[in-house]
Amino acid sequence: MDLTTAITERRSVKHFDPSHRMTEAEVATLYEQALLSPTSYNIQHWRFLRITDENQRQAVRAAAWDQAQVSEASELVLICGDTNAWQKSPERYWQDAPEDVQAMLVPMLQDFYNGREWIQRDEAIRSGAMAAQTLMLSAKAMGYDSCPMIGFDQEQMAKIVNLPEDHIFVMMVAIGKAAKPANGRGGQLPLSEVVLQNSF
Ligand SMILES: Cc1cc2nc3c(=O)[nH]c(=O)nc-3n(C[C@H](O)[C@H](O)[C@H](O)COP(=O)(O)O)c2cc1C
Repeated sequence: MDLTTAITERRSVKHFDPSHRMTEAEVATLYEQALLSPTSYNIQHWRFLRITDENQRQAVRAAAWDQAQVSEASELVLICGDTNAWQKSPERYWQDAPEDVQAMLVPMLQDFYNGREWIQRDEAIRSGAMAAQTLMLSAKAMGYDSCPMIGFDQEQMAKIVNLPEDHIFVMMVAIGKAAKPANGRGGQLPLSEVVLQNSF
């Protein structure tokens, strides 16, 4: 499937075939491709928490107000962001770069984040959201459908998955074989409203 078709045909599907199993190779491809998403300073704040255990799925579904996608999906992932990723051995984010590039970027990224909690949080969300879209397009290209989800009780979910203090939820993504097509589109805003030029 070409990229334009994947973008055009990706929709939020609410019912998946619960008997379908993705192969290990398909699942690996999803995450390998997600890892290629861009992140500020290549920090890769994302942590992909796969919910594979049946009991854990049920608990997550209860926290997600019983939405069926949660247990019907072949792959269910809570995309989390590490808000402190910027200070956890940041030299590893540039380990393959030439030494002069490392010497410039590593202190620069620390200055950018240090003491700026809103940026630490914003960047974790931005990175995770980039990865979410890559995951969904990758799934579509493989013949699967997906549903991004933030409809869950964050406090309850944090307890269920033992979310570390310095991590946040970006969104959950359910992926699988569609059992029912998506509902009709809600309606896109006109380009004339959302595309602006040069200033507001
Ligand atoms: C961050 C985010 C959270 C969402 N949460 C849910 C959700 O909890 N349950 C659900 O059924 N759909 C959820 N959606 C799907 C949206 O309703 C859907 O993307 C939107 O209506 C546009 O439809 P489309 O994705 O089919 O183009 C979410 C989408 C996003 C991006």
